[in-house]
Amino acid sequence: MSARIINGNQIAASIRTELAQEIAQLKSKGVMPGLAAVLVGENPASKIYVQGKVKACETLGLYSEQIALPANITTSQLLKTVQELNARDQIDGILVQLPLPDRINAAELLLAIDPAKDVDGLHPLNAGKLLSGQPGLVPCTPAGIMEILERSGTPIRGARAVVVGRSSLVGKPAALLLLQRNATVTVCHSQTEKLSFVTSEADILVAAIGKPGFIHWDFIKEGATVIDVGINRLTREEDVRAIFHEPAEALDQLAKKGYVLTGDVQPEDAREKAGAFTPVPGGVGPLTIAMLISNTVRAARQRRGIALHSKTAEI
Ligand code: GUN
Repeated sequence: MSARIINGNQIAASIRTELAQEIAQLKSKGVMPGLAAVLVGENPASKIYVQGKVKACETLGLYSEQIALPANITTSQLLKTVQELNARDQIDGILVQLPLPDRINAAELLLAIDPAKDVDGLHPLNAGKLLSGQPGLVPCTPAGIMEILERSGTPIRGARAVVVGRSSLVGKPAALLLLQRNATVTVCHSQTEKLSFVTSEADILVAAIGKPGFIHWDFIKEGATVIDVGINRLTREEDVRAIFHEPAEALDQLAKKGYVLTGDVQPEDAREKAGAFTPVPGGVGPLTIAMLISNTVRAARQRRGIALHSKTAEI
């Protein structure tokens, strides 16, 4: 069997087209949604992610600004920045890129973001709304996973869904969203015993662990839909050889670019055994940014009491 490859770029492009219409409608009412992305320190991956988010806003005609702060900033200075953004009407969405330096009290910071502008959906109020099934702002990657499942025609109601990973950013909210759509959900994590026994029962398998190629043949049910949330950067030939059964193409990429991006799922096994799967890159990643724009537009609308026009799922 050869799995269907779910094209995340294509799904994200459809969402962006829908959002462009919504943005045009908002602009005709004199509203230009605005996003502020706060980046602390010099983490190269975070820099690239934040640049991608700001650029996506620009492409769609949203206002955006990147606030780059030094790694030695204190929690109270960072709180002040967030409070200033809370107070600015031009800013509808505030995103503080994670991870933050250890010294920063991330929980205190997330609590300080105005929940109406919390486009990451990480404020406890939005997390609580998700838990209790009330509409709110939902974390972008799990929201993107749901768009992928729905738009690729994957049956969710009654399906056995297994989420590997229990982070507040991905695993927990993904499990809640799947439950809301009437899947039978199991959440696995680093302490789960006989993990492959559990995952190999999954009709929908979501891998969000951050370990390259961790989910392989034995973990996958024949015909399952496998959603790979991992983005791992391999820079050593031995790591590439350890992941890929047929490494020629990946080694070629390593030689040309100096790294190979790979997910948490062994891609050749997924291709052979799954019914459908999201590749890395080009699967979940593009959806995360599309859903950030969607959340920013939604926040702009909701803060002003303007009714919904987007087709993206209102949760
Ligand atoms: N770091 C990795 N993914 C994310 C995300 O979706 N939001 C934020 N704020 N930080 C991240």
